[in-house]
Amino acid sequence: DAAIPFHGARQAGVTAFQQPATHLLSFDLPRTSAAADRKTLRGVLAALTRTLATAASDAPRDPRLQGGGATRLTSLVGIGPALAARLRLDVPAVLAPLPSFPGDRLDPRRSDGDLLVQLCAADRWTLTVVAELVAAAAHAAGAAPRWTQSGFLPHTAPGTTPRNLFGSKDGTANPDRTAAERWVWGPAGAHRHGTVLVYRRIRMDVAGFAALPEGRRDLVMGRRARDGAPLSGTAEHDEPDIYAKNPDGSYVIPATAHVRLASPRFDGGARMLRRSYSYDDGPTDRGLLFCAFMRDPAQFTRVQNRLAARDALNPFLQHRASAVAYVLPGAAPDGTLGEQLWT
Ligand code: HEM
Repeated sequence: DAAIPFHGARQAGVTAFQQPATHLLSFDLPRTSAAADRKTLRGVLAALTRTLATAASDAPRDPRLQGGGATRLTSLVGIGPALAARLRLDVPAVLAPLPSFPGDRLDPRRSDGDLLVQLCAADRWTLTVVAELVAAAAHAAGAAPRWTQSGFLPHTAPGTTPRNLFGSKDGTANPDRTAAERWVWGPAGAHRHGTVLVYRRIRMDVAGFAALPEGRRDLVMGRRARDGAPLSGTAEHDEPDIYAKNPDGSYVIPATAHVRLASPRFDGGARMLRRSYSYDDGPTDRGLLFCAFMRDPAQFTRVQNRLAARDALNPFLQHRASAVAYVLPGAAPDGTLGEQLWT
């Protein structure tokens, strides 16, 4: 396998094929004066660009990454809304912290942050090594670690949808290229090649859900776990028909089914690009690292407000951490991530 190029109009951590392993790192910047902190941020972004470009290349300097092309490292770097506001950075005006939602039980020590780095690769080893290089480069440039989180996917043949810990195919109804230009990537102008990442660490009651009979699980989700097809259709990629009715007049995809409440039909067709991972942090702490990319985080807020109110999945879920970041446009071969931020 060849290395996935680091440089490009868009960061490879969003555009490349979803890799089976991920590691997220969040950092905070010191709070001195805005001028000094802007300088620190420039230094951190330059250090991250150098470190990530080298680690992703075919010839990384670190001996632990040699033969590195096969590890297929991809990355993305994002800016948190609080930092953007404090340093008056030029980010899309829609970048803002999420509101709180009913049922949230967020741990601030695992949430938010000034800078977010998501690493993805073919294997965990690469991520551990690169995470260490990233943390060292960020530290040397003045950023302090805030939280880290690792996640994984099952081995899945290319082009097929990975399953989550409830056993469902997760990521089926993602936007195609045309829809992504409208709903995922930034508006025309300096932010055309940027996007916003919404991250939620959602604990799942895997045993509780598994205890439901299969037919009941499929009604909760609105899709069949076996093949991923919507209850209104026969194949995984059939569009869920939220208007389809049973002979008795009830909806085929029930009123509180997850895919009904998450349907883009309630949002003027708005779609987010979901690239979630599972996590396993101990016997009672497993779940989903929900990772979704969108032009405007209000797209997430609208869906999550509906889900929080009445998703049939809710008895099996707890939102335990949250973060939002503006995912910067990519860097040119002679450029640095974040050149758009300074006006
Ligand atoms: C669809 C699982 C949380 C938004 C789906 C599907 C599954 C799923 C199995 C159907 C297959 C697919 O299209 O990918 C889960 C689980 C969650 C969770 C297990 C929690 C642990 C969320 C959250 C949001 C969300 C927090 C956003 C607020 C969506 C959307 C769709 C979807 C937009 C596609 C709907 C469509 O276009 O048909 N989810 N999800 N999900 N989910 Fe979730």
